[in-house]
Amino acid sequence: MLELIKSRRSIRKYTAEPVTDEQVQAMLEAAMAAPSANNAQPWEFVVVRDAGLRQQLAATHSWSYMAADAPVVFVVLGDARRSDHWVEDTSAATQNLLLAATALGLGGVWVGIYPRAEREAHVRKALGIPEGKRVLCIVPVGHPAEQKPPRTQYDPAKVHRDRYGNR
Ligand SMILES: Cc1cc2nc3c(=O)[nH]c(=O)nc-3n(C[C@H](O)[C@H](O)[C@H](O)COP(=O)(O)O)c2cc1C
Repeated sequence: MLELIKSRRSIRKYTAEPVTDEQVQAMLEAAMAAPSANNAQPWEFVVVRDAGLRQQLAATHSWSYMAADAPVVFVVLGDARRSDHWVEDTSAATQNLLLAATALGLGGVWVGIYPRAEREAHVRKALGIPEGKRVLCIVPVGHPAEQKPPRTQYDPAKVHRDRYGNR
């Protein structure tokens, strides 16, 4: 598990090999295994395979182009009426989803939507997402066509012992 965490990297290039329904299911199950405040599970996911819709998602902003090439794109939604911790909860789910993709030999990338209103409006319109549901991010996933080495970004300057400033 510790090696897997370090192996998860942002993968932005994909081969043409499809992602199976079983793999999608496994990633969704991992996402919904995440912790959430009061176990509210305020998440929903739109699984986008349609090429036209992926093109629209790719046009959301300048760093969302990967959605056009990935065989599947997960759109992570949060219900702000159900929980005021929806951002943390759906972020935990997103990280689980990315780790599951890595475990399956797939690669993905967190494409930020929240908190930019214009990005959220674009995704909302493209997919018909109702007003009460917020859009945290979109996650294109596919078979990696780029290799990135595992790594930590451990930085001792970011660690304090007992009291702030103690090394
Ligand atoms: C909240 C958030 C928003 C991000 N938004 C984007 C994005 O819009 N497009 C993108 O290509 N990568 C995005 N990333 C991925 C980061 O660029 C990436 O995680 C970072 O450069 C570290 O690289 P690594 O994921 O390979 O460790 C986002 C990551 C987070 C956590």
